[in-house]
Amino acid sequence: MDTYVVILAAGQGKRMKSNLYKVLHCVADKPMIKHVITTAQTVNPKEIFVVVGHGAEAVMTEVGDKVTYVTQEKQLGTGHAIRQVENILSNKEGLTIVMCGDTPLITKATINSLIDVHRQNRAAATVLTSITSNPYGYGRIVRSNDDTLVKIVEERDCTASEREISEINVATYCFDNKILFQALQQIKNNNAQEEYYLTDVIEVLKAEQKKVCTYCTPDFSETLGVNDRVQLAIAEKVMNKRISECWQLQGVTILQPETTYIGSNVKIGMDTVIYPGTVILGSSIIGDSCLIGPHSKIEESFIASNTSIVQSVVTKSRVAENANIGPFAHLRPGGNIGKEVRIGNFVEVKNAAIADRAKVPHLSYIGDATIGEDVNIGCGAITVNYDGQNKHHTNVQEGAFIGCNANLIAPVTIGKNAVVAAGSTLSEDVPENALIIERSGSVVKNDYNKKKRSKVIKD
Ligand code: UD1
Ligand code: MG
Repeated sequence: MDTYVVILAAGQGKRMKSNLYKVLHCVADKPMIKHVITTAQTVNPKEIFVVVGHGAEAVMTEVGDKVTYVTQEKQLGTGHAIRQVENILSNKEGLTIVMCGDTPLITKATINSLIDVHRQNRAAATVLTSITSNPYGYGRIVRSNDDTLVKIVEERDCTASEREISEINVATYCFDNKILFQALQQIKNNNAQEEYYLTDVIEVLKAEQKKVCTYCTPDFSETLGVNDRVQLAIAEKVMNKRISECWQLQGVTILQPETTYIGSNVKIGMDTVIYPGTVILGSSIIGDSCLIGPHSKIEESFIASNTSIVQSVVTKSRVAENANIGPFAHLRPGGNIGKEVRIGNFVEVKNAAIADRAKVPHLSYIGDATIGEDVNIGCGAITVNYDGQNKHHTNVQEGAFIGCNANLIAPVTIGKNAVVAAGSTLSEDVPENALIIERSGSVVKNDYNKKKRSKVIKD
């Protein structure tokens, strides 16, 4: 039997108070809608539909073409949203799983349990529920004395006693396809919000003597619906714990998960140690046995094994094995750091390849440059890459020694094993093995200070 998934994502998300469309808000550095799609994919559906409306363009750009989009022009409620796929699905044999784009924490295991309960009972509909001590805002699960589901009542439509119910509707369901769309034709919008509620389908099915089941997941935290920033922060906390534990169980030491932020698409190797205050984002890959942090931010970067990145920021860069970065280094986009390279305090690197064993230990700017193997860049030496209009390239060939506070005015090439004397400001190429000194001669005035002081005393 075919399975389809419909993800509701057309609502405005007013309670977020945001210019960003609700389902695009990130949890663990990944938009909520993408978490839901990742989970939906695990049930091997024939097709995933995403109902879009507000911010449709932005959602489609972010999610891409792995799903089918249907547009809900006016957001008249969750029931109305599902009807947007009526033309495509209503005659199909099979199951339809309905999920919401603002419920990012549901796991594969829970969806599978929901489907199992549905199949075992040959149900027309199965509703995912959970129990919470603070059900405020959720639809409540109203049961009869024999414990069967009677209806789902939204917070605003609850009576005082219904408000006391702690079992809530997660807004994730499994339906028999044809039965769902027949029932949807009968729902009305006579409720507090004047919306067509998908939840009202339950009462329609019950009236038609169809079998409606529930699966109550034991873990409320994964059923959290994110409608505002407070819930967003709770979702972050849950996801952070989940991601940290996943890596910890694969041999990564995370000393203080509460102060460490690891994105959903990050990969980390065994025996790497992550110190507090570290943020790792994008599709970053960290190798084995690295020391990361404290207080480092790594974004969209590849960090090979046995590397240490201390109190540093690394963006869109590559760092090879045994390199040693920081403290207080900044690798900006296009940094390509070789093996055993040392990048020290207050060094900024941008769009530059620094080959194996080179050292840039203190206070340098290396931008638009190629630095050869075994080069030593002295304290305060910089590449002068920008003439106010264009960026130019600096090429320092292998084994060259650049003295402290040298300014290499690009375009310029420093030959193999050449030496640039400290303090030189140069714009001409230096041949291999040469020494270049670019300084004005010293002026020494003997007894200058002695004379000056004696003048002050006389006055
Ligand atoms: C919904 C459920 C509630 C449940 C809660 C769980 C209904 C009527 N209520 O309430 O029982 O406890 O989720 O989190 O279903 N959407 C559309 N088109 C619309 C309206 C909404 O696509 O016209 C989408 C939204 O983008 C969102 C989802 O449906 O992703 C749920 O809508 P939302 O407004 O968040 O409903 P809740 O009040 O959270
Ligand atoms: Mg919601």
